[in-house]
Amino acid sequence: MTQEKLLELLGDMSLQEKVDQLLQLHEFFYTGNQEEVATGPAREMGITEEDITQAGSILGSYGAKKLKKLQDDYMAKQPHHIPMLFMMDVIHGMKTIFPAPIAQGAAFDPKIGKMAADIAAREAAVTGLHVTFSPMVDLVRDARWGRVVESTGEDPYLNAEYAKAIVEGFQGENNDLTEKFKIASCIKHFAGYGGAEAGRDYNTVEMSRPAFREYYLKSYKAGIDAGAALVMTSFNTVEGVPASVNKWLMRDILRKDFGFDGVLISDYAAIEESIYHGVSEDKRDAAKKGIEAGVDIDMMTGCYAANLAKLVEDGEVDEKLVDEAVLRVLELKNKLGLFENPYKDADEKLEKEMILSMPHRIAAREAAARTFVLLKNETDDGGFKYLPLKEGKKTAFVGPFVESQSIMSAWAVTGDEDSCVSVAQALRETFGSKYLYAKGCEILGDDVKIPGFRGMVHYPSTPEETEKLYVEAENVAKDAEQVVLFLGEDTTETGEAASKGFIELPEVQQELLRRVHKVNDNIIVVLFTGRPLDLREVSELSKSILVVWRPGTEGGHAIVDVLTGKRGPCGKLPMSFPYCVGQVPVHYDSLVTGRPAEPGTTEKFKSRYLDIPNEPLYPFGFGLTYTTIAMSDVKLDKSEMTADGKITATVTVKNLGDVVGVETPQLYIHDVKASIARPAKQLKGFEKVELMPGNAFDVKFEITKDMLTFVDGEGNEVLEKGEFEVFVGFDSATTNKASFVLK
Ligand code: NOJ
Repeated sequence: MTQEKLLELLGDMSLQEKVDQLLQLHEFFYTGNQEEVATGPAREMGITEEDITQAGSILGSYGAKKLKKLQDDYMAKQPHHIPMLFMMDVIHGMKTIFPAPIAQGAAFDPKIGKMAADIAAREAAVTGLHVTFSPMVDLVRDARWGRVVESTGEDPYLNAEYAKAIVEGFQGENNDLTEKFKIASCIKHFAGYGGAEAGRDYNTVEMSRPAFREYYLKSYKAGIDAGAALVMTSFNTVEGVPASVNKWLMRDILRKDFGFDGVLISDYAAIEESIYHGVSEDKRDAAKKGIEAGVDIDMMTGCYAANLAKLVEDGEVDEKLVDEAVLRVLELKNKLGLFENPYKDADEKLEKEMILSMPHRIAAREAAARTFVLLKNETDDGGFKYLPLKEGKKTAFVGPFVESQSIMSAWAVTGDEDSCVSVAQALRETFGSKYLYAKGCEILGDDVKIPGFRGMVHYPSTPEETEKLYVEAENVAKDAEQVVLFLGEDTTETGEAASKGFIELPEVQQELLRRVHKVNDNIIVVLFTGRPLDLREVSELSKSILVVWRPGTEGGHAIVDVLTGKRGPCGKLPMSFPYCVGQVPVHYDSLVTGRPAEPGTTEKFKSRYLDIPNEPLYPFGFGLTYTTIAMSDVKLDKSEMTADGKITATVTVKNLGDVVGVETPQLYIHDVKASIARPAKQLKGFEKVELMPGNAFDVKFEITKDMLTFVDGEGNEVLEKGEFEVFVGFDSATTNKASFVLK
């Protein structure tokens, strides 16, 4: 449809009809018991039956047949036969579930994010979906926050690279949403949601403007520049004003500075929550503030539906604001080609053929293996590394994650556990049914840190049953030369509303580790997690640790591929693994302070703790391979640079081992003196290099002025002359550096 026709359509719509385009309801309102809907949630929300039949979009529903019917019914009742939008959280896969976003970040390879999004888009599109609420690009530094699993990590550059790649994966390189198997992407949560104080979900965010711009805003901007069709607001306040009604944030930064002209949707109930933040008087006031801030769609509240028309009629809101928002919604429908093709790609036949197809599973297996991070790998008495597993060495496979198919994540809402490949299945395919196995314990026991504190799902296991499982595990471990222990967090321990004050493994599993260790200390830990954990004890009691995150549908296969050495691990930590929770939030790119403490110093008046180190247990960017790759000193081709010039940093990397390895040289820059204090290091580039045994080659990074600028509190790009340090290494703790002067 031409823009002219869209405007004509808009001009012909009644005010209430327009307002209903701005309402989004959950599928329950359509597929649930209509009487219950009318007397329950709808009445509470102030939503009429008419609003329900006319609401412009639905969230949470999928399936080609179902959505076609919903579309038919909707369009038939619509005065202008405007098609409806179907939206859903397709986060790391639709049915073929890829590794969770935090794991994808660990691949240090945005191509993995793009591939996962591309396949997710295909599977989502054939089920009739038009929009996904993904990617979440919130920068995260606090392992207590359950939603870190949904982010690609603590670094603005890494997150921005993934934001671009994922948007491209969902929407396609041409950003043509009418293309087959493409869906619209929604950047979330704008803005700063990952900065929730003390890692408690929905909590206040408080930070300086320079920090907000330097660390937090960049990845949203990158996703918007990549063409994301939607942006979602966040639940938190920004400078005291809830983001969803924050005019400065939405009008000045998002719309004006970032030039975003797509659809801005509130997070679930967030417009109404401005009342509970203590900023809006009531729903009417919340609606007024929301539309004034430029929020187009009100997700799951009746604020807009019940109040916007009256606000316009009473002269309190200019109808122009409503028109602007409705036009953006109509434009999105048009971009997706829905006026001509309201079902878009919904197709029952393709649904059967494409979903969980072999090529999709192969891609998920490959992707998962590339996200695993090897944190330690000692050498055994025979001079062999514990990983990969040595053929002929008697190995016991123990732990609650051997048989578990619960290996997706809390946000794989469309995925089915039944289609997940467990480690046990993959072991059977590799070793037959002859491997040594014991469950060891349940994933969670009755072991919350504060007795009686409610909040975690408990597994029904009595002390006697738990003891029996421990004894079985000890017996199996005694019988073997080494034990692979599959431990980790429960699916319910990360995701939304899953913040934690303690970030160790569940106590029932720590105890399993101790018990096994007493009878056999040759322990390799395979760790399923959606957040950085306090791994002190795990580290102390094990010889190797392989972090496999939440690996998704093909997790079991990918894990056995890596354990057996069919593929080598090549992931890098996208978030620092803290020494303990007391360090959190800990991140590599902090400011140096006026009293920097050298590692290990005992000096008193330094910026340090008395009882723990400043350094995390495993730093950002860290991860080993199955071989030994050496790196030369970093060499710069010049010692001085001008603003329009460039400098090349070169390192030579060499595979000294006897197996192939994939390493990730990382470039970090430090601005030594500037008008505001600068981070000790900032990631500015990385490369994935695959090296055959004996292979060596040069890796070059080109340094240009955009790597040296910073954004001040007002949003200005600033470039200041002076000395810059350049670090290249295999992780953020590297001290391999050179320096140059910007003239
Ligand atoms: C709330 C979550 O914060 C958001 O990420 C999600 O997209 C919406 N609910 C819709 O499910």
